[in-house]
Amino acid sequence: MIKSCSWPFLRGALGAAFMLGWALAPALACAGDASAGSDVFKSECAECHSVKEGRNKKGPSLFGIVGRQSGAIADYAYSDALKQAHWTWSADKLHEYLSQPARQANPGTKMKYDGLSDSKQLDDLLSYLSTLH
Ligand code: HEC
Repeated sequence: MIKSCSWPFLRGALGAAFMLGWALAPALACAGDASAGSDVFKSECAECHSVKEGRNKKGPSLFGIVGRQSGAIADYAYSDALKQAHWTWSADKLHEYLSQPARQANPGTKMKYDGLSDSKQLDDLLSYLSTLH
């Protein structure tokens, strides 16, 4: 399947550029639509999370979350459960974590969230989260 956000790459591309687009698209991990993901973030996460660096709400800032270590914001009071998780928030790990109730993914966490069951919304959200650098 051709992923939606590889189209701008391919559209109007010629010869070698066309081939390069194909080669690069998977490397960009561009499975979702970041601008739709920003709306998902607003409705699902923004009540508790800011994407601004250094701005914690009920939950820690999610600036730079993709690739970050779990429990890494120094001035945020994490639960023991999350402190002890020692995860790296790769896109795959976030996908797994956010697709189920947080208390199931990390028993004892204080993140009260039941998970995002719509896989399109989850892909869009992950694309958006990976722009937060
Ligand atoms: C009702 C509030 C609430 C909602 C809604 C919520 N979170 Fe959280 N989130 C938290 C809290 C509180 C923590 C800290 C958890 C802990 O310390 O156990 C947290 C932690 C996290 C972490 C771990 C951060 C770190 O520094 O290790 C990630 C990632 C995360 N949330 C992503 C999300 C995303 C993405 C959404 C939306 C799909 C979301 N959360 C929705 C409250 C929430």
